[in-house]
Amino acid sequence: MISNKIDNSLVGNVQIPGDKSISHRSIIIPSISNGICKISNLLESEDVLCTINAFKEMGVKIEKNSDNIIIYGNGLKSLKKPNKDLYMGNSGTSARLLTGLLSTQNFETTITGDKSLSSRPMKRIASPLIAMNANIRTNNGYLPLTIVGKYLNNKTIDIEIPSAQIKSGVILAAINTKGITKVVEHNTTRDHTEIMLEAFNANIKINYNDNKKIIEIDGEKELTSRDITVPSDLSSSAFFIVSAILHKDSKILLKNININPTRDGILIALKKMGAKISFTNKRKINNEEVCDIEVLGSELNGCELEADIAKLMIDEYPILSVAAAFAKTPSIFRGLSELRVKESDRLELIRVNLQKCGVKCEIKNDDLYIFPNTEFNKNVENIQTNYDHRIAMAFAVMGSKIGPIKIDDSDCIKTSFPSFIQEFNKLGGNIVWKK
Ligand code: S3P
Repeated sequence: MISNKIDNSLVGNVQIPGDKSISHRSIIIPSISNGICKISNLLESEDVLCTINAFKEMGVKIEKNSDNIIIYGNGLKSLKKPNKDLYMGNSGTSARLLTGLLSTQNFETTITGDKSLSSRPMKRIASPLIAMNANIRTNNGYLPLTIVGKYLNNKTIDIEIPSAQIKSGVILAAINTKGITKVVEHNTTRDHTEIMLEAFNANIKINYNDNKKIIEIDGEKELTSRDITVPSDLSSSAFFIVSAILHKDSKILLKNININPTRDGILIALKKMGAKISFTNKRKINNEEVCDIEVLGSELNGCELEADIAKLMIDEYPILSVAAAFAKTPSIFRGLSELRVKESDRLELIRVNLQKCGVKCEIKNDDLYIFPNTEFNKNVENIQTNYDHRIAMAFAVMGSKIGPIKIDDSDCIKTSFPSFIQEFNKLGGNIVWKK
């Protein structure tokens, strides 16, 4: 893919697809509930299709009806042994949430993934489940992973790694485990699983103690299905928000964006840097906070962000780093170790690719330092994505400022935002697709 420089401003409305995290949960939870669920605005990207295919393989009837997806759920214990391994493609959310869910089903399953997912750690989800007595075998901590489903023991499980995927995997095991499982979360992470389970009448109680979140699940209670409208994805919006900020006189509107407070760190960070972002029409859809976001071209200052905020914006550092490269002063983003175990080692790829563009940056103890520049390299040929969609899209935005730049393997954008190039170009961008 080649992303060319654009001198014009970006003006108009952008159609942002459904939130990826909520879309996965919108397939998983109704598939094990009782009743029919109509889902609108589901993200139909490769990652979410992996989750859909997995449940179809396990006998759940899932249909498309005009723009909606319909799921016919038959309860907590209704899943059937799939005829083949469950292939999760690039999707860590599918792999980790399903590992939890399948550890209590009465059959054996093997989970596989693509090259990127096969290099991501799975011990982090296997260990807390094994503590509940699950039978899970990994390939030295990686995929393929085999689960022999069985009854688990309810326990107190501490989640010390800041990861919504681990927390959600354990919760999905707990809802089919007799008695009360306590999940103690030491760091705030996205809470879409808890919000949706509450709406589906799970026996789930949430308390806070000493800065920790305690989630108590009284298991084996059947869930009741209901319709879902998936709000649009803030993580996908971030590429457009930063593009508009970086191009003078831009004015864009993004509608129905999920601004769940466990996910809104990018908005706090960009505002702190001086971005002109405003929020209107705030409301709740299925208990998720949603609003419309207007963004104007803005001058940015650099900023220092502590590790605490990283949990509220972990997926947004690639695009935030591109924004920081055009600020008036340097930035420091602290505590980014989790970035190393995403679809790629994102911390390293941010550094390498920014340097290729002529931006001085360095990593010290998992803190990222970015020193903005006014002179950039021309005709950058080899932006490396390691099949990471967020790296590809972040550097497409970089190209709109300093391009042409050539980005390898950008097919991965389809895992989260299949219409990205089309939407970007509709707004005035100039990205040319080339294999
Ligand atoms: C996700 C959780 C985060 C995030 C990922 C989606 C989820 O991963 O990076 O894109 O849907 O639960 P971790 O749990 O590894 O932090």
